Amino acid sequence: MDFKTQVAAAAGLGAVAADALLLVVAGSAVPGDLDKSLAGVLTAAVNAGDFAFKSGSTLYLHRVDGVKAGRVVVAAAADGSVKAFRKAVAAGVGVLKSGGARRVAVALAGAELTADHAEALVTCASEALYVYRATKPSAPAAAKLASFALVCSKEQNAAIAAGLRTGEAIAAGVELARECANRPGNHCTPTYLANTARQLGKDHGLKVEVLERKDVEKLGMGSFLAVAQGSAEPLKFIVARYNGGAKTAAPVVLVGKGITFDTGGISIKPAAEMDEMKFDMGGAASVLGTLKAVALAKARVNLVGIIPACENMPSGTAIKPGDVVTSMSGQTIEILNTDAEGRLILCDALTYAERFKPAAVVDIATLTGACVIALGGVRSGLFSSDDTLAADLLAAGEKSADLAWRMPLDEEYDDALKSSFADMGNVGGRAGGAITAAKFLQRFTAKLRWAHLDIAGTAWKSGAAKGATGRPVPLLTHYVLSQAK
Ligand code: BES
Ligand code: MN
Ligand code: ZN
Repeated sequence: MDFKTQVAAAAGLGAVAADALLLVVAGSAVPGDLDKSLAGVLTAAVNAGDFAFKSGSTLYLHRVDGVKAGRVVVAAAADGSVKAFRKAVAAGVGVLKSGGARRVAVALAGAELTADHAEALVTCASEALYVYRATKPSAPAAAKLASFALVCSKEQNAAIAAGLRTGEAIAAGVELARECANRPGNHCTPTYLANTARQLGKDHGLKVEVLERKDVEKLGMGSFLAVAQGSAEPLKFIVARYNGGAKTAAPVVLVGKGITFDTGGISIKPAAEMDEMKFDMGGAASVLGTLKAVALAKARVNLVGIIPACENMPSGTAIKPGDVVTSMSGQTIEILNTDAEGRLILCDALTYAERFKPAAVVDIATLTGACVIALGGVRSGLFSSDDTLAADLLAAGEKSADLAWRMPLDEEYDDALKSSFADMGNVGGRAGGAITAAKFLQRFTAKLRWAHLDIAGTAWKSGAAKGATGRPVPLLTHYVLSQAK
């Protein structure tokens, strides 16, 4: 798909050449400066009761007199905000995607266009047009829509074009994350993730290193090894580095949970919906996606992605409830529940992250069902002991419509992790499950400026539209871009 700018005024939209014109109208009246032909037909439609200025409503028109584009889709936006624009674009693209148009001109009338609108156009259209086909050759053919031209003024052209480029980088990262996470567990193995990282490295000049079991043993990652030991799939510990900043600049480190299938292990999960545990590498997918987006954006920043990847399986070699392991940090852990495996692989990855002397470390994980109960699928759970880091991540989420919500880390929650046989247990009780999981991770971050994103509710959708969302690639990319000097 291709996104570009096209210089024209609202009054001149009738003369814009395209297969279709997607006209987003902000506000509650026909904009005064709108092209006469379009204003006429729109007013008539409103008077006839066929169109209302109601967020998300659309009107399809064919061969409008005085309008060069053969098809016109009008989409209503509540106001000029990026949020309302997103909603209107999604509705408009929904109308156009089953039709014959290939080249679409997009215009915003009734409000001022900004670079943020441009970025939103790209991410929204790309999201709406994505089709998974890796293991489904019978998937419907991709929509014909191939190019989008965003109408803007001459003065805006450079800023709008820059917004489109940022949007393209994010959309490519989101797509990579969705492609990885949607693949079933027998395709997307730890080895597959490692190969995807290696390919990403080749394509975008990243340094990629993949540690094997023996390397991880040497490093003393007893906790990560414990989770991996029940599986016949070889574990991988992936380290990918993008160097776009000064040599001396401290990197941002992203740590992604890469459980390519989570059965629960000996503490096995119920059968219903267990298939969705193929998405348990959504954190890892978002790290790969963010690396891709940041590299495409050529951001002047250093970024390290770390992915501990393995399966969580029940078997004769699997860990058992009550087993005690020693983490890379030296702290011992009593594994009371083998289904709380995400924190067990992340804690060693967090300790490993120390060697990069990072400016900040953010781990991303489909960590707890409790977070789904707390926040549902709208906002990811954000935990951090650093207020500035938390504020930066929240702001990045707002800017990219990839929302998060800050959760508490009071020391009182830590009591739940007490163990009689080790420095800590790996589970608290049912109460505050997302928080006690974060408290567990926090015990491994004393030397770090750290935040944790629990994406259990936001990384994928269940039900009829089951599939990976690619979140939180937009949030993470915006955060990393905001750290560029
Ligand atoms: N991958 C799951 C978390 C999860 C569950 C994400 C459901 C999305 C939907 C994680 O490894 C897990 O099993 N967590 C347990 C922790 C519990 C044993 C303390 C959970 O949430 O039930
Ligand atoms: Mn689990
Ligand atoms: Zn899990």
